[in-house]
Amino acid sequence: MTCSIPILVVSNRKGGAGKTTVSVNLAAEFAAMGRRVLLIDLDSQGHCAVGLGVKVSAGQTAVHDIFTQPALRLVDVICETSINNLFLLPANPAFQHDNSGKDEQRLARALADEAIADQFDFIIIDTPPTLDNLLLNALSAANWVLVPYVPHPLSFEGVRQLVRVLFKVISERNSKLKILGFLPIMTANHVRQHRQVNEQVTKQFGALRSLSGIRTDIKLAEAFGVGKPVRLYAPKSRGAEDFAELAVTLIQLIEK
Ligand SMILES: Nc1ncnc2c1ncn2[C@@H]1O[C@H](COP(=O)(O)OP(=O)(O)OP(=O)(O)O)[C@@H](O)[C@H]1O
Ligand SMILES: [Mg+2]
Repeated sequence: MTCSIPILVVSNRKGGAGKTTVSVNLAAEFAAMGRRVLLIDLDSQGHCAVGLGVKVSAGQTAVHDIFTQPALRLVDVICETSINNLFLLPANPAFQHDNSGKDEQRLARALADEAIADQFDFIIIDTPPTLDNLLLNALSAANWVLVPYVPHPLSFEGVRQLVRVLFKVISERNSKLKILGFLPIMTANHVRQHRQVNEQVTKQFGALRSLSGIRTDIKLAEAFGVGKPVRLYAPKSRGAEDFAELAVTLIQLIEK
């Protein structure tokens, strides 16, 4: 049995590539578009809760506890946020990533609960900057993967390595997984190096999968600091504009 609603994983093993910023702000955009969204924080850094201003108390049950509690139902772990239609499955900051075991399907089974498909239209999973069993769990549960990257020469190599992993997962573990797109983050068209890296990505992976990107905007970092999506913190900012546009593009690709 699999989960019947779209599940989008945001992944790049490189740290600071914008995964959490994208996960939180896209989740808020989809929620504003009327989708009931469940945001899952699979990174024990727990930054999704910070970005949404959700308080998680020490010892509170979290998504990572499925790896140690076989009978745990995720519907019992979901937290409300202050945003209509947006709910969070928080991370366990005390979780040791080595403790995720060897079962790559644990999350997929936990999400196959009918109560989740009844309550939500969309799931977004934020992932840690690692290539471990947590990431394999996310990729095994999902049907879409979105790869944010900062357009520096080194990140292109990182994206290529990740794509090799994605193709391996698709051929060996989860044939319903598709690459939704590559998303440049903190990108500036007037910077030649950014243009070059973005062109390299387009050449390697195709124009269809190259998304137009999120420009550098300090409002995105500030919004995170006050625990709000940018659409609420600075609705007229470049960051808010770029995320609104991205959400429309992605919804069309996913729901077509
Ligand atoms: N478009 C942007 N403009 C300005 N700052 C940004 C932008 N996108 C992300 N940032 C900032 O860059 C930093 C890294 O972003 P983020 O935490 O989303 O990356 P990450 O991939 O989730 O990192 P990690 O691998 O540690 O989980 C944060 O401080 C964030 O506020
Ligand atoms: Mg993160």
